[in-house]
Amino acid sequence: ARTKVCIIGGGPSGLLLAQLLHKRGIDNIVLEKHSRDHVLSRIRAGVLEHGFAELMREAGVGERMDSEGEIHHGFYIAHDGEMDRVDLKKYSGQSVMVYGQTEVTRDLYDARDAMNGIVIHEAADVQPRDIATDAPYVTWRKGDDVHRVDCDFIVGADGFHGVSRKSIPKDVLREYEKIYPFGWLGVLSRTKPVNDELIYANHERGFALCSLRSQVLSRYYLQVPLTDSVEDWSDEAFWDELRNRLPAEVAGRLQTGPSIEKSIAPLRSFVAEPMRYGNLFLAGDSAHIVPPTGARGLNTAASDIQYLYHGLVDHYLKDDSTGLEEYSAKALARVWKTQRFSWWLTSLLHRFPDTSDYDRILQRTELEYLFSSDAAQTVVAENYVGLPY
Ligand code: FAD
Ligand code: DHB
Repeated sequence: ARTKVCIIGGGPSGLLLAQLLHKRGIDNIVLEKHSRDHVLSRIRAGVLEHGFAELMREAGVGERMDSEGEIHHGFYIAHDGEMDRVDLKKYSGQSVMVYGQTEVTRDLYDARDAMNGIVIHEAADVQPRDIATDAPYVTWRKGDDVHRVDCDFIVGADGFHGVSRKSIPKDVLREYEKIYPFGWLGVLSRTKPVNDELIYANHERGFALCSLRSQVLSRYYLQVPLTDSVEDWSDEAFWDELRNRLPAEVAGRLQTGPSIEKSIAPLRSFVAEPMRYGNLFLAGDSAHIVPPTGARGLNTAASDIQYLYHGLVDHYLKDDSTGLEEYSAKALARVWKTQRFSWWLTSLLHRFPDTSDYDRILQRTELEYLFSSDAAQTVVAENYVGLPY
């Protein structure tokens, strides 16, 4: 078999690119390791920046997002007994869309079905081959059968644990990493969200986040030690600790219920360079990871896809490969800015095991300064809504 672009990974990055390319007549196939149900059972990001929402619309999959998603013009930071609001509209002129990654992925799968796009699930042993040549191909196994597709380009959209990044030679690939000494315990519950807008809480017992998926579906997170496991946290213990970390007035109106999902995610910053080797392009989590604070992960994946999409369209429809040649440098320039913001917001809001009194006062001062300065709030707002592509 032959296609133009072989996309490894059927997460949001891979599906969005497949959908955008197919709409411009550029044929492609997506190879996904897991089943569709498995991919759709993962509860991850919840906040989409303006550019992501625009890309969804361009891909023809914005309809449900626009009717069911919520536009948020600001968010809160609770700290030192105060509830301060970052006014996104005022300081950036923009807003964000609250719409879950699960729904984004579901809409993309539905759109792929409607266009008869090729997405192969449960593709085992996927392997990019001859990536440094003009005749790359990908092999995989399904049951006892081994398959092969020849292509012009391979896109590695297979997440942090995927095979694509690992197929770039070790003497070419540079990896930068920072591990944080804690994780986020997340709970999804069919309850009314405690607040209309998100609340990020800096508390002496550790960070907490009140987020939502809709007016009947809440998503909450607690900073926990890496040694904790999900079994250590009953629903009751989770709700008690969340109340502990929220301002009394907010804790008092928290509605609780059984968790419908509970998981722990470690916090990591990671960048792999370059994002292109030969005819293999990396996009999304396969090339970079941010700690979740500030909701940049999925959004940064989308900005890679935006650059790659335009590069591929120019290559195929205008015979201009500049966009592809500049892809790695352009994507990385924006990636590092989201690394900076995610690291900064993580440092500002969490309690680190080795925090001294000096560090704590500095954190409090940083927060006081933030809410006393229009310039500082502008910096936060423009990063949170998403830097320009
Ligand atoms: P992925 O979503 O990881 O998709 C990659 C796909 O490739 C997967 O479907 C995988 O099954 C498939 N795959 C892997 N290996 C292979 C292979 N060898 N062959 C074929 N297919 C393969 N971001 C936020 O903004 N907010 C959050 O709250 C948040 N929470 C998160 C919680 C967790 C536990 C994790 C892991 C991430 C979270 N993120 C969050 C980050 C965000 O979800 C990711 O940035 C986003 O999923 C990236 O999309 P992607 O398509 O690049 O990668
Ligand atoms: C969510 C996750 C985040 O990391 C964030 O900053 C905001 C919202 C969420 O899952 O809802």
